[in-house]
Amino acid sequence: MRKLTLLLLVCLLSLQCKKTPPTPTGLVTEKAMVVSAREEASQIGSDIMKKGGNAFDAMIATVMALAGAYPFAGNLGGVGCLVYRKENGQLGGLDYREKAPRSAHKDMYLDSLGNVIPDMSTVGATAVGVPGTVAGIIEVHEKFGSLPLEEILKPVIALARKGVVVPEKQANRLEYFKERFITVNGDSTKFAQPHKTGDTIFYPELANTLTQIMEKGRVGFYIGEVAIKLSTFILEKGGFITEEDLAAYEAKWRQPVVFQYKDLKVISMSPPSSGGVTLNQIFKMVEPYDISKYGHNSTKAVQLFVEAARRAYADRNFFLGDPDFVEIPLDVLLSDTYLTERMDGFSFEKATLSSDVSHGSVEIVESNETTHYSIVDSFGNAIAATTTLNGGYGSKLYSEELGFFLNNEMDDFSAKPGVPNMFGLIGAEANSIAPEKRMLSSMTPTIVEKDGKLFMVVGTPGGSTIITAVAQTILNVYEFDMSMQDAVNAPRFHHQWLPDVVTFEEEGFDAAMKSELEAKGYQILEGRTPIIGKVDAIRVLPNGKLEGGADKRGDDKAVGF
Ligand code: DON
Repeated sequence: MRKLTLLLLVCLLSLQCKKTPPTPTGLVTEKAMVVSAREEASQIGSDIMKKGGNAFDAMIATVMALAGAYPFAGNLGGVGCLVYRKENGQLGGLDYREKAPRSAHKDMYLDSLGNVIPDMSTVGATAVGVPGTVAGIIEVHEKFGSLPLEEILKPVIALARKGVVVPEKQANRLEYFKERFITVNGDSTKFAQPHKTGDTIFYPELANTLTQIMEKGRVGFYIGEVAIKLSTFILEKGGFITEEDLAAYEAKWRQPVVFQYKDLKVISMSPPSSGGVTLNQIFKMVEPYDISKYGHNSTKAVQLFVEAARRAYADRNFFLGDPDFVEIPLDVLLSDTYLTERMDGFSFEKATLSSDVSHGSVEIVESNETTHYSIVDSFGNAIAATTTLNGGYGSKLYSEELGFFLNNEMDDFSAKPGVPNMFGLIGAEANSIAPEKRMLSSMTPTIVEKDGKLFMVVGTPGGSTIITAVAQTILNVYEFDMSMQDAVNAPRFHHQWLPDVVTFEEEGFDAAMKSELEAKGYQILEGRTPIIGKVDAIRVLPNGKLEGGADKRGDDKAVGF
């Protein structure tokens, strides 16, 4: 009897120690889910899995569907990266980031006086890097696909032909960018016409390009008819991408960055994305503190996060670049000793100044022109994938003949050390331009395990704010007990070393907390501030069901079964 009472007591105690997991507030499904920027794309991905396809098949369908459904960032003319966790726990990453054309050189965006030429790396054909998305999906299909490419792409091609209905946010964006489309493409471009909410945009040219890819795989895009049309178009418009550049492009499998945060195992993208490394640094600098006790978005929690981000971004901008071109001292940057020392000098009493961490002074410009999608299939495979054109509709250069926009990702290189790019990020030699080099990215597709099991799939657009948005979403679930949907919707803040300001989203922050921070020496970006990220995520609930988190900031949607 005494033994039984003791056993009961132990059981009760252990139950009490376990936090009750938050009640889901997002879509809950039994087996499989896709969360992406548009319902059409999530639906196509989910349907593929319903037909028996796996998460990898769904990834291909989803990203290709986004090219028509969400041309703002979905693409064939851009790039992406992903991390995956297979049902057996095997981990991996794929880098299909643009490369600089072979004629590229360090000073290609500088004038004769050595000044950066305005717009050259951001607008029109000169800004375009060699696209990688199609190489990415073909790699994924060859390695992990379970359905024939035809079966995966047919519904996407059908969508492009049937047309995609314009939601209000897209109508506003198309109107906002209209003059720029005309400047870059002339007034006969498809996007010179007004597209109102509820109109349908048809993409027959995109359907033809997708058919080439469906029939010929990688060759259907990088060699032959499409490649000739694409490079001729870019060269005629004054850009640099030749047929040889396209033929030489290859996606690369990379080992993801994997680290432990308390009892979570976090798996994220490695260079040439800075996402995983910077996320790892932020988490490890935060780990020694009991952040959950401070309270969500409290002065102390914000302060701790900001100080970790300040230090991590200073390292990002100096050390990181394409690992095929530069030595990155990852073993040091990610070591416990280094990261503990990095937080020396941190105090809750007073802000550290970025000028004491390094030098420089820049402006931040924010936007949301990348897109992330998270997928879990009924077999237990998970994929976090982010894809980007860089700016909204990339370089604005649109191939009428092929039916897609081209990226302006060359701006992610550091055109000149110390001069900020469109995200206010200042780079160093490690991210200078060289032929066939990949530009540094902030994309942070991330998967989280808990107790050795799949726990979360997460990622976001947001340029330099991607990394902080992903980190805060994970902390919201793990430290602040939020459901997936609430964690995604919660207000976010950002700091990136330089400029030395903390940006808060407009809604949802306590004025007293901001005043306290100011009193401690933090500079706060005042006035109308941008949204930070647009996170799409999935959490595995304790009963094995899935909860989606589709960001309320966009038209994002979770679909599954
Ligand atoms: O790869 C990168 O880091 C950028 N090209 C991402 C751009 C982005 O997220 C745009 N959206 N805000």
